[in-house]
Amino acid sequence: MLKLEEVHERVMRVLGIETSCDETGIAIYDSDAGLLADALYSQVEIHQKYGGVVPELASRDHIRKTLPLIKEVMDKAGCSKGDIDGLAYTAGPGLAGALLVGASIGRALGMTWNIPTLGVHHMEGHLLAPLLEENGPSFPFVALLVSGGHTQLVEVEAIGVYRLIGESLDDAAGEAFDKVAKMLGLPYPGGPHIARLAESGEPGRFTFPRPMTNRPGLDFSFSGLKTFTLNSIHQLLEEGMSTEELDQQSKADIAHAFQEAVVDTMRIKCQRALKQTGMNTLVIAGGVSANQRLREVLGLMAEAEGFEIRYPQLQYCTDNGAMIAYAGCQRLLAGQHDDLSILAKPRWGLESLPALQEI
Ligand code: KG4
Ligand code: ZN
Repeated sequence: MLKLEEVHERVMRVLGIETSCDETGIAIYDSDAGLLADALYSQVEIHQKYGGVVPELASRDHIRKTLPLIKEVMDKAGCSKGDIDGLAYTAGPGLAGALLVGASIGRALGMTWNIPTLGVHHMEGHLLAPLLEENGPSFPFVALLVSGGHTQLVEVEAIGVYRLIGESLDDAAGEAFDKVAKMLGLPYPGGPHIARLAESGEPGRFTFPRPMTNRPGLDFSFSGLKTFTLNSIHQLLEEGMSTEELDQQSKADIAHAFQEAVVDTMRIKCQRALKQTGMNTLVIAGGVSANQRLREVLGLMAEAEGFEIRYPQLQYCTDNGAMIAYAGCQRLLAGQHDDLSILAKPRWGLESLPALQEI
């Protein structure tokens, strides 16, 4: 492992590949100049008619899109193969087949170009995404990671020094948004659709619980909110409305109540996490961090309580190649790289990652 001074002396340009789910994301990050170029191809249209991601279709589409997208990003950045010093790909967690596409292409290019490669942890990518900004947050901080597959509160001491202090015991926050959206007849992925519909919802018509907030601890549970949604729909049907008649206003009222419950639950847990750790910076990342109501509510709390709150730029909240290029670059700079085996890890604990340097 390199010493801190050696880490900062080197400059590195890293190509990042993200293929863990339904987005092919490619980017080039330069440790000196920052993000040079990135591109994203979303498979949403392919999966929408099935109401969720079909893993086999995802893998096949990553095979079609990854190389052309790499070429596009290299051209955009004005880079040829000799300009790339390292390659980072998402090694997990995610869909096994989809991960293997990025891992195989990444490793093959690394061997051909004779540069080091590294398998990056997808959630570390999300967690570090706010550091893509010139004035990114400084360590230590508490991170709330809210994506389609994970809801985690992490105490972050430095890159690779992570302590999981809370997580969802059942559905992830994004998953809950997606499932409730499906119940309301909204397309996949449901988060942005719920958020839009909730804007016209009438506050107070439905009140959803704030799960696990009336007992101590930092864990979450969102699956009960699905049942609550279903019960609210049934209540309307019992009042004489047919499924087809479930009017737009009622749907908006349910979406509003659901979103308020998720957001308020997160506010309470974040407040607790900051108090418990004694930290005063909160980083929110992952797809659900794009939610405007979440930002509004947490922003008010931050203002009232005097702590700092940081998000990635909107386009780097959901899956993207830039966060993988960034995380990979930091680790490659520290001398970490793959050995000869190829691994994709559909399940991978964030706490098992090595630190960037000894602290
Ligand atoms: O991080 P991400 O792109 O992929 C995973 O790693 O899972 O997160 C996708 C999730 C989906 O569940 C999607 O519905 C949710 O993020 N999402 C949102 C919003 N935008 C995306 N949820 C609530 N409000 C949004 N504006
Ligand atoms: Zn993600």
